[in-house]
Amino acid sequence: MIDRSEILGWLVETDPARLEELWRRADAVRRASVGDAVHLRGLVEISNHCVRRCGYCGIGVEHAGLARYRMEADEILACARQAASFGYGTVVLQSGEDYGIGREWLAGLVRAIKAETGLAVTLSLGERPEADLAAWRRAGADRYLLRFETSDPALYRRIHPDLPGRVSDRLALLRRLRELGYEIGSGVMIGIPGQTWDSLADDILTFAGLDLDMIGVGPFIPHPATALGRGELPPAPRERQVPNSELQTYKVVALARLACPHANIPSTTALATLNLASGRELGLARGANVVMPNLTPTKYRALYEIYPGKACLREAASECEACLRERIVRMGRELGTGPGARRR
Ligand code: 5AD
Ligand code: FES
Repeated sequence: MIDRSEILGWLVETDPARLEELWRRADAVRRASVGDAVHLRGLVEISNHCVRRCGYCGIGVEHAGLARYRMEADEILACARQAASFGYGTVVLQSGEDYGIGREWLAGLVRAIKAETGLAVTLSLGERPEADLAAWRRAGADRYLLRFETSDPALYRRIHPDLPGRVSDRLALLRRLRELGYEIGSGVMIGIPGQTWDSLADDILTFAGLDLDMIGVGPFIPHPATALGRGELPPAPRERQVPNSELQTYKVVALARLACPHANIPSTTALATLNLASGRELGLARGANVVMPNLTPTKYRALYEIYPGKACLREAASECEACLRERIVRMGRELGTGPGARRR
């Protein structure tokens, strides 16, 4: 295990030669704990409706000019079939917090996907009432992703002005999801204005405290249609503010691996957005073991712009599939097969 002072030491480290040691350790722990397989999770962004106005997210309700869509069940099923045909083991259904996605409708869809494809189904639909989460689990959903974004209670409130709960409530909901039988995933953004080194160290310790099955982290990328993108929330004093940089993100990926050796950790699209040429590979080389190719039909993709300049905005699902397959093989890693559940 890794303790808080060691985490803090790495977070502020800037010497490339010293950081090589962190990358080497994270890669060794990754190989020993989860092996060389890179699991592919096909992402379908099923709706961009959202009732929230989180200070960072470009599809929040206050983005008035944004055209809204909600995919039909048949369209989503077609994406799941495509995931299966590409050999992906998991389909991830993601949306804003959209109550137009009804409990029974989604339960029926999950049952249909499971019956037809046998894929693992991951949901990422925001904070929903427990009755919804329980119904979807009974329908066969396997995993739930819900980032807590920051463990700093004051910063959490500032960036989530209209969420009814506090960060402690979100952590409690994650524990409840685990009790319902889901594998649970969470994570944070790196470099939110106001995020300090200390709070980021606490975030990483929180990953371990929750014993997360999946950990997703990515750089904060300002979106002009949001409060944070307009610079309305104050940064921390310069010496305490975490930068939203590529390097800082690799450090958190590597530290997440050291803190949670068996977790499934994606090399995220936000990372690829900062470095199209090699962000995904560097994430995979520094602790990550998962990638999430986008399966959303291209006509909807530009409408799911949670941050600007998102990678793969125009590529068809088959292009991302071929691109990622080649990148993984070129790195000397293996393509994961099967659902790629968390190993203990
Ligand atoms: N920059 C980076 N990541 C973002 N997310 C939302 N908005 C942004 C942004 N502007 C991340 C959040 C959310 C996940 C789905 O996307 O962490 O949980
Ligand atoms: Fe989409 Fe490379 S992953 S083009």
